[in-house]
Amino acid sequence: MTSELLNYKTVSPDEVTTWHEACKVTDFPQDGGLCISYQGLQIAVFNFSQRKEWYATQNLCPHKHQMILSRGMVGSEGEEPKVACPFHKKTFSLKSGENLNGNECKLATYPVKVENETVYVGFA
Ligand code: FES
Repeated sequence: MTSELLNYKTVSPDEVTTWHEACKVTDFPQDGGLCISYQGLQIAVFNFSQRKEWYATQNLCPHKHQMILSRGMVGSEGEEPKVACPFHKKTFSLKSGENLNGNECKLATYPVKVENETVYVGFA
């Protein structure tokens, strides 16, 4: 099972055709994530409240194919926002999806916007 087989594909802001209503801001933990479902895909959405930033990635950790990243710990490596998988602590950039421990696997990332206390994730 690969990310590609599950149709996870990074969406850049200019590719968004659908803004999917994910949740209310108040549903989210501070500096934590939630898993949402969109067309059969599990998407991890993160409220990085310390930085006042929002991110979305695939929920699937590409290392051992666990649906877990929404429960990962968010933090920063220098200026780079990141999430650490709870299983084997591999860390991924929340901006680019890059594996910060090497380059063997990468996350798909999605744009997020917040309007009227509602969180939307962009899909193409
Ligand atoms: S399953 Fe996520 S780091 Fe191993």
